[in-house]
Amino acid sequence: MIVTTNDLFRQAYGKYAVGAYNINNLEQTVGLFRGDLGKSKSNDDPTDPAKSAPFIIQISRGARSYTDKRFLESMIRTAGEVFPDAIFAVHLDHGTEEACYDCIESGFYSSVMIDASHEPLPKNIEITKRVVARAHAKGIVVEAELGQLGGVEEDVVGSVCLTRPDEAVEFVDKSGCDSLAVAIGTSHGAYKFSGKQGLHFDVLDSIQKALPKRFPLVMHGSSSVPKEWVDRINNAGGKLGSASGVDEAQYLPAAKLGVCKINIDTDGRLVWCAIHREFFRDKPEGFDLRGPGQVFMPAYADYIIHKNQKLGSAGQLEGVRKGLGK
Ligand code: G3H
Ligand code: 13P
Ligand code: ZN
Repeated sequence: MIVTTNDLFRQAYGKYAVGAYNINNLEQTVGLFRGDLGKSKSNDDPTDPAKSAPFIIQISRGARSYTDKRFLESMIRTAGEVFPDAIFAVHLDHGTEEACYDCIESGFYSSVMIDASHEPLPKNIEITKRVVARAHAKGIVVEAELGQLGGVEEDVVGSVCLTRPDEAVEFVDKSGCDSLAVAIGTSHGAYKFSGKQGLHFDVLDSIQKALPKRFPLVMHGSSSVPKEWVDRINNAGGKLGSASGVDEAQYLPAAKLGVCKINIDTDGRLVWCAIHREFFRDKPEGFDLRGPGQVFMPAYADYIIHKNQKLGSAGQLEGVRKGLGK
């Protein structure tokens, strides 16, 4: 069942965060749905209520153009039929204004992100406001972003990059967005922190206090880049260097401060990469693409279960269903 992100945030607020996972292909999609229903090995496994979680499936512009956006939409639609117990939002990740309108008009997405965070505040407000008007007219909710991610690797963390609480208040008030992605020290990709940096909980706390009560916040760039998977990749011929991510122990404290959506893309790529490298390293005579796919899908499902446990969303699916009156 497809719902909006804000339907999920209303129930998660202050208690846990909903995982927002990027997908690009069929194997990721199947692994994601299985994991969110606690079915690790096969589509036909029974759903495990203790592991079942609501989730957000998110599609970047890169994913939409990798093949053709309609393949992704068909896959997700089919996954909703194969896994009828699933409760999820379909979300455009890092949209331009044009991509947002395309998704709003498609009738398939329940949520879009307009990312005009590179623009000065007034222009970011102006663009976001236009997208909000078009989205709300169709019952679709809008995530916007204020602040700039990515400064951490370059050691230029400062007020120029992190979201300013006073600006967040003005932005939310004037743009009418439904949730706000904030820059509190994370960055995209596998190389987030070069030293002892971590999340700026003081900034997050100030943003939460300044905004209207229970306003949902979003954390991008939140992969944990597990050492286990980086080592597996490197032991199978990869060269990932000093990759590092967000400490998973920080997800729940962030959720308690109003972060309702935590974005994970890189970790899924690491799992994919390790499994495929190992598979062909160990079977040099192999060339059937289904071989690594059959190993990847359950491994990814297990990874999603693990991640949802860290986010606190595991075990929440039935409560969400009741809360939605379904
Ligand atoms: O935040 C960006 C996501 O990781 C999507 O990445 O544009 O390479 O699909 P992508
Ligand atoms: P990661 O690169 O940390 O997985 O972040 C993903 C993200 O923010 C997608 O929007
Ligand atoms: Zn992002």
